[in-house]
Amino acid sequence: MKIYRNAPLKAFNTFGIAAKARRLVVIEDCDDLDLSPLLGGNPWLIIGAGSDVVFTRDFDGFVLTLEPELRATVADGCRVTVWAGARMDDLVQWTLDRGLYGLENLSAIPGSVGAAVVQNVGAYGAEAKDTVVEVETVDLRTCEHRRYTGDECRFGYRTSRFKERSGGSEIIVNVTFALRDVFVPNLGYKALEGLPHATAQQMRDSITALRWQKLPRPEEHGSAGSFFKNPVVDEAVYMRLKGEWPDMPEAHRMDGGAYKISAGWLIDKAGWKGRSMGRAGVWPQNALVLYNLGGCTGGEVVALAGAIQEDIKKRFGIALEPEAIII
Ligand code: EPU
Repeated sequence: MKIYRNAPLKAFNTFGIAAKARRLVVIEDCDDLDLSPLLGGNPWLIIGAGSDVVFTRDFDGFVLTLEPELRATVADGCRVTVWAGARMDDLVQWTLDRGLYGLENLSAIPGSVGAAVVQNVGAYGAEAKDTVVEVETVDLRTCEHRRYTGDECRFGYRTSRFKERSGGSEIIVNVTFALRDVFVPNLGYKALEGLPHATAQQMRDSITALRWQKLPRPEEHGSAGSFFKNPVVDEAVYMRLKGEWPDMPEAHRMDGGAYKISAGWLIDKAGWKGRSMGRAGVWPQNALVLYNLGGCTGGEVVALAGAIQEDIKKRFGIALEPEAIII
């Protein structure tokens, strides 16, 4: 492992916020994980590619991340096991290059494979949970390895057992996906209508292009993708909103009968698109995305997010919850 003292974290969080960690530990493989003596009683924080974290202060402890190298193997034809530090998008291309399908709708997601599991990332009608069949973790305190089946991961909308227990001592080291060797396009998501999808590569390219129409280019502006989760409300609340706001987009009906409504639409409707407070702004093409106008602090992001939350609560009676973790 590599250990850096008083380490700048700007390159380790996709918002590009200039916080520091007392120690930054980059873990290179699973045999590298006897961290108990090193960590002692210090606080620690596991970040993947830093795509879901906002630092409002320096972290006075150990920030842990896995080496981003793509290391993957295929077993039984279609089961791909990959090092959790690999970038999700690199994995998607790697699988397509080998004629393995099922991840193409998750193209251009900026995080690591491990974070994709923690958050159960989802986009364009696919979620990590659709293909993840096994997750291997190591306990940083005891070095004990554990394996969880997909069911044991308790996946939900942008959550899993690993998110529930964030701050725990388990780190995800390997993830196994069950893919297919036949390409069946997943066209369930409305925005995909009419996009070229004859091959899986075309589907990936279409989704990548669509995504970049709605999100800032990471090399130009930092962000954490969608900043808020889409609120999940019961039928009565959804009907009230639909009655008051007939132009509200159709909600997604979830298992169990609740409705997932569009936070982006609520924030847009409230007039926030393109607005900024200090050096934190609301992306002009997508109100669900907060971004760094240049040199922004975590405090500025939190202040903008708080003002939006307060306004949405007042106008619509809906509480918005951040998808990102605020440190
Ligand atoms: N909308 C607006 N104005 C906006 C943004 C959205 O009116 O500024 C409306 C859209 O017109 C559409 C609806 O809101 O009717 C939903 O928008 P979209 O399809 O773009 O998806 P989303 O709900 O905003 C979610 C995920 C994204 C994912 C897309 C596509 C969450 C929190 N976000 O966004 O995930 O890429 O669907 O599947 O669930 C992420 O989590 O970081 C992320 C980017």
